[in-house]
Amino acid sequence: MTSSTSDSALDTFELGDTTTIPRLGFGAMQLPGRWNGPGADRAAAVAVARHAVELGALHIDTAAFYFSGATRANDILREALHPYRAGVTIATKVGPMRAPTGEMTGEAAPDQLRAAVEENLRDLGLDVLDLVYLRVGRLGTGGDAPIGDRFAALARLRDEGLIRHLGVSNVTSGQLAEARSIAPVAAVQNRFGVLDQEDAALVDECADAGIAFMPFFALGGGHSPLSDENLHRVATRHRATAIQVAIAWGLARSPSIVQIPGTGSLSHLAENMAAGDLVLDDADMALLGRR
Ligand SMILES: NC(=O)c1ccc[n+]([C@@H]2O[C@H](COP(=O)([O-])OP(=O)(O)OC[C@H]3O[C@@H](n4cnc5c(N)ncnc54)[C@H](OP(=O)(O)O)[C@@H]3O)[C@@H](O)[C@H]2O)c1
Repeated sequence: MTSSTSDSALDTFELGDTTTIPRLGFGAMQLPGRWNGPGADRAAAVAVARHAVELGALHIDTAAFYFSGATRANDILREALHPYRAGVTIATKVGPMRAPTGEMTGEAAPDQLRAAVEENLRDLGLDVLDLVYLRVGRLGTGGDAPIGDRFAALARLRDEGLIRHLGVSNVTSGQLAEARSIAPVAAVQNRFGVLDQEDAALVDECADAGIAFMPFFALGGGHSPLSDENLHRVATRHRATAIQVAIAWGLARSPSIVQIPGTGSLSHLAENMAAGDLVLDDADMALLGRR
């Protein structure tokens, strides 16, 4: 694989102009095991979380509603990483309500967000959460309903010192504007990837505003394998894998993109983190497309 010391995993982004995070982080949703499946092997999941940080994935994306059976992402992160070493930032999401049995039961009302934030603080063993997203709507279809009341409630928790930075997730440009009229937004987390570029305009909007764009499902989310002729062509050219090209594509696509690939596998983790050294050139980007 083509290596370079520039544009590598050491590249960083200034979250809210105050918190330095690597542009290649780690998504913790896969740690507890498949959504609504049996829980993953806990010791193996703890090992993956520890190794992610050892490999430099110092930005970790989680949520209290990431669990499979009794195996919870936040518990795994706490067991693996607490006390958190300097430089580790943890981002979490509030909004979606999930019953212990696994069903999604709706969205939190403004007055339910404090309990959701406190649950994350308690489970992760933190006094302050680095980044909390208001995650809205159903997967991939946030709709364009107003989010002001809920975002304002979250902003009050930030004013109280429970949260350092605010984000919004699964939003439209209109919802982002509404949130920004209430309080600074440091990050947007929406679905986006080389084979899924519908939110291209929002990526550019975030770059212009200095807002991090953290794509979810940048590897296809495990639902649709990343099978695309041009992706494989570029991968072959660099002696890399299609997954690595998908990660590197996002890093090259916008300086605002911070990747959070998710995995519960040590070997996939190593492969994903090595993508920080993969530099795509203009010919690669032209082949892969950039909306
Ligand atoms: N805001 C939201 O609405 C939202 C929604 C979904 C996810 N997220 C966040 O975004 C993060 C990323 O999303 P995601 O984990 O759902 O999807 P993803 O990163 O697109 O893909 C994860 C899937 O790809 C597989 N995978 C990972 N690395 C691989 C590799 N090197 N080779 C082959 N397969 C590989 C994983 O399986 P293995 O475990 O077997 O590697 C898993 O099935 C999540 O962890 C979560 O933190 C946010």
